[in-house]
Amino acid sequence: MERTASTDLCVVKLGGSVITNKSAENEVNQANLKRVIEEIASSNKRVIIVHGGGGFGHTMAKRYKVSEGYPSSTVYGASATMNAMSELNRIVCEVMVENGLPPLSLPPHSIMTLKRRISPQALRLAEFGLKHGFVPVSYGDVYFEPKRIFSIVSGDLIAAQFAVKLRARSLVYATASPGVYTRFPPADSDKPLKEVDQATDFIATSSDVTGGMAYKVQQGLNAARNGCRCIIIDATIPGRLAEVLRGEQFTGTEVVWRKSPNPHGKLK
Ligand code: IPE
Repeated sequence: MERTASTDLCVVKLGGSVITNKSAENEVNQANLKRVIEEIASSNKRVIIVHGGGGFGHTMAKRYKVSEGYPSSTVYGASATMNAMSELNRIVCEVMVENGLPPLSLPPHSIMTLKRRISPQALRLAEFGLKHGFVPVSYGDVYFEPKRIFSIVSGDLIAAQFAVKLRARSLVYATASPGVYTRFPPADSDKPLKEVDQATDFIATSSDVTGGMAYKVQQGLNAARNGCRCIIIDATIPGRLAEVLRGEQFTGTEVVWRKSPNPHGKLK
């Protein structure tokens, strides 16, 4: 399907590894969080921010096996995970306010349908908020579903859904990795691929329940197929996010949807 972006909207997914210390429990990386929010604020772009779980959501989700849903997990575990994510979201919103970005918080546990879609009402609210100068903010979280009662939804998927549904011009995955590589772990001399498409044979390993780089590429392909430019960058490097938001040359990987991809491999 060919579709062009109707707005200058950009959806930025702030990875949990950027804004938290992922190996610690409930520890914000204050320096990174402050800096990436400043970079967004000074870009003067219309944005939707989606953030990850890092040491907040992933720690809880793993401890209580929340992604497996009920009965492997418990209602308590799901609730504790939602609570940890609400806490991280509150901190992100606070830093946004300090930098003149007025947050409109949209928690997935209350805006997702049982089919893991952002509800039409929440999309309308996000659009309404954007129109009046708010910055919609969402995040990876618990969502509810008929079979297992609850599970985990990644901010990667939420970001791509917002991008497609609100016809954003670009979707930026601000991660702690320079981009996508052909081998793991990459050697020091390896450079990230400039582009990946649906046929690129790349390596992406992850122990996360939400799938790491491979899942970002999958979501990015969906966005790209719908006319949205998708870029994966290393936002732990000062200025990288600002560079992309300004539309300059960037260092990272672009996820491209091709009508006839070069069949040199398959997505792992
Ligand atoms: C994870 O969201 C949310 C929970 C585990 C509750 P993401 O998948 O978007 O988080 P990061 O960016 O990998 O930390």
